[in-house]
Amino acid sequence: MDVKALIKKMSLEQKLAQLSQFNAVCLHLDAGDEVTGPAKELSLTRDQVASTGSVLNFRDATAMIELQKEHLENDPNKIPQLFMMDVVHGYKTIYPIPLAMGCSFDTALMEKCCNMAAKEMVTGGVRVTFGPMVDLVRDPRWGRCMETTGEDTYLNCEMSKAQVRGFQNGTGASACVKHYAAYGQAEAGRDYNTTDISERTLRDYYLPAYKAAVDEGVDMLMTSFNILNGIPSSGNKWLVKDVLRDEWGFDGVIISDYAALEEMMMHGYCADKKECAKRAIDATIDVEMMSSCYVQHIPALIESGEVKMEQIDAAVERFLKLKEKLGLFEDAFAGADAEKEESECLTEEYRAIAKKAAEKSAVLLKNEGVLPFKKSVKKVAVIGPYANLVMLGEWACHGRQETGVSLLQGVKNLLPNAKVEWAQGCSHAVNETDCSMVAEAEELAKQSDIVILTLGEHFNQSGEGRSRAELRLSQAQKTLLSKVVQANPNTAVVLYNGRPLVLTEVLDQMPALVEAWQPGTEGGNALASLLFGEVNFSGKLTMTFPRSEGQIPIYYNNYRTGRPPFQAYSSWYQDMSTTPLFEFGYGLSYTQFSVSEPSLDCEQMSRGKSVKVQAEVENTGAREGEIVVQLYICDEHASLTRPMKELKGYQKISLKAGEKQTVAFEINEQMLEFWSENNKFEAESGYFKAWIAMSSAVEKYKPVRFKLV
Ligand code: GLC
Repeated sequence: MDVKALIKKMSLEQKLAQLSQFNAVCLHLDAGDEVTGPAKELSLTRDQVASTGSVLNFRDATAMIELQKEHLENDPNKIPQLFMMDVVHGYKTIYPIPLAMGCSFDTALMEKCCNMAAKEMVTGGVRVTFGPMVDLVRDPRWGRCMETTGEDTYLNCEMSKAQVRGFQNGTGASACVKHYAAYGQAEAGRDYNTTDISERTLRDYYLPAYKAAVDEGVDMLMTSFNILNGIPSSGNKWLVKDVLRDEWGFDGVIISDYAALEEMMMHGYCADKKECAKRAIDATIDVEMMSSCYVQHIPALIESGEVKMEQIDAAVERFLKLKEKLGLFEDAFAGADAEKEESECLTEEYRAIAKKAAEKSAVLLKNEGVLPFKKSVKKVAVIGPYANLVMLGEWACHGRQETGVSLLQGVKNLLPNAKVEWAQGCSHAVNETDCSMVAEAEELAKQSDIVILTLGEHFNQSGEGRSRAELRLSQAQKTLLSKVVQANPNTAVVLYNGRPLVLTEVLDQMPALVEAWQPGTEGGNALASLLFGEVNFSGKLTMTFPRSEGQIPIYYNNYRTGRPPFQAYSSWYQDMSTTPLFEFGYGLSYTQFSVSEPSLDCEQMSRGKSVKVQAEVENTGAREGEIVVQLYICDEHASLTRPMKELKGYQKISLKAGEKQTVAFEINEQMLEFWSENNKFEAESGYFKAWIAMSSAVEKYKPVRFKLV
C-alpha cells in the first residue's frame, strides 16, 4: 500500500475521519440522516460517525465483521477501520490484575499472559489493546493501582517491556502504552486530579516505564487525563512533542484518552474546542478518542493557516502505516472469527496459564502455623462476601462469572470428598455495618475443621474513578473477622483488593493472611492450591501497605532527611511509626530462606566497567520454594540527594529444602545514574552501598560498599 499516494487522494474530511475514534455504540445508526445518542451529544454528522477510522469497545467478532463490511461498502477510499479495546489483563481468560502480576516478579509469565490475551482478542476482531498501563503509583487511595505493577520504577520498566512483547510479538496485534504521563501521581489519590512534579522526579521515577515501552517497540501510546505542571497531557507540547517524539524518537500513533481533548476546556486550559484541536495537533496527538474537536474545528484552523495540512498528513500517515503494519489493507477482517472466538478462548492451556499466574502473584503476609491446611480435613467453612465470587478485577473485558472459578468452587474442586460450605457473613458494601449474617457464619466456623475467610473490597470498588479516602475494612467485616476467629482459630484470611488496604487494627486477629488481589478466571483453583500446600507462595509486594492513610504517600525508596525519624525533633509522627505495615518486596513462604553477607569482586568501579556483588541464598526450611532475591543500591551522597535505597535488580530462584545457591548481580554504571542538574542521566563518582536482600527492609542486612571513580 502506498500510504503517501493514498493520502494525496483523500479529502480533509476523510483525513480527519482517520484521526477520530468513536465508541461502537455511536455507529449503530438508525436509517436516515438523524444521529442519536452519544454521536448526537458530540454534534457529529452521520458521515463523520460512519467514516471514523477506528472503533472503540465493540461486542465481538460478529459485530466487528458487520461494522467493517458496512464501512468498506461506503468508504470511497476503502480504508479498513481499526478495532481497539481495553484488553488489560485478559480477553475471555482473565489473568490476575497487573498489580498482582507485578508481585510475581516473573516477566516471562507476564509476557505469556499478555500473549495469551492478545491471541484471544484477535479472534474477537481486536487489533489494538489499550495496554500496558504503566503509571507509577505511590498512593493506594487511587482506584487504578490495580491496573499498574506498583511503586517501583525498575520493576515497572521490566513489566512494561514484557507486556509490550507479549501483546505484540507474533499476535498480529498492537499494544498502546498508557497513560502518558504520571497519571498515577493524582493529588490526594483522587482520580483525574492534578499532578505537579519536578522534571527530575518525572525523569527518575514517572517517565522511565513509558520510555521502556517505546524502546521495546510499542506501536501506540495514550495521553492521560491529568494536567502535568499546569498543562493537560494532550496539549502538552514539551511532554509529547519535545520529549516523546523528538528526544525518545517515538514515531508511533498517539491517541488521547476518552474525551481528554475536549476536557482541556474543563481544565481551564483551552477557551473552546477549536483551541483544544489546535493545542492537541501542535502536540502531535494523532487520534482523538470520543470527542469531536478535530472533525469540527481543524478545517477552520487550516483555512486560517493556524494549522498546516502537513501536520494533518503526518498524523494520518502514522495511523495508516499502523493499519498497513497490521495487514488490514490485505485483510480487513484478519483473525476475527466467531467460531474461533468460542473454540480458541478459555482453553485448558490458557486456564492453566491463568492459574499459574494467580499462584505466582499471591503474597503470604502472615502465617502463625495455620497454613498450609491439610487436604485430609473433613469440614471446611468458606466464609465472607467474596467467597462465591470470581474476583476478576476491573477491565476484565469478556471475563464472566460463569466461566471463572470462585474460591468456594476451587476448594470444592480440590477436596471433592470434604464437606465445604459457605456463609456470606456480611455484604461487600464499603461501609457496611449490618452484622445480621455474622451469627450464621460464626456457627458454621464452630462446626468446621478449618475456616477460609474472605475479606477486603469488591472489584467494583477499585478501578477508574474509584478512589477511596479510607482504606479499612467495613465495620461488618471487622465484626465477622473477630467472631469467626474466636469461633475457630484455625482460620486463614484471604484478602481480595485492588490496592493496598489499611489492616493495622485487624492484623493481630488474623492467624494467617493471604494477599490474593483480584486473581482472575482461575483464582479459586489457584488459591485452593496455595492454601492446601499443593503450591508454595512466592509473591512479593510491589506496593507499600501503610499503617494509616495519614502516612500516604508512603513508598520504600523515599529520600533521607536531615533528621531521620526515631529521635525528638526529627522527621517522625508523634502518634505512629513512620514504617509501613508491610514493605515493598515483602512476602513469606511455606519454607524459610537465609541470605549470607554479600561480597564484592572489587571495591572500585571504573567508568564503563562493573563490579559483581554476590551472596549465598539457602533454603533453610523443610520444603521447596521460590524466592525473589533483590538487589538494592544507595548512592551515599550526590549533587542531588538520592533515595535511601533503590531496587536495581532481582532474580527469582527455586531452591529445594537445604539447597544453597550463589546469587550474583553485575552492577554497572547505568544502574547508578540519575537525572542530574546537567539535564541528563549520569552517575557521579563516589561511594555506593549495595544489599542483597529478600525485601526492601535492607536495614536487616549487611551491605557492601564500593566506589565509582
Ligand atoms: C478510559 C480509560 C482508559 C481507556 C479508555 C478507553 O477512560 O482512562 O484507560 O483505555 O477510556 O476505554
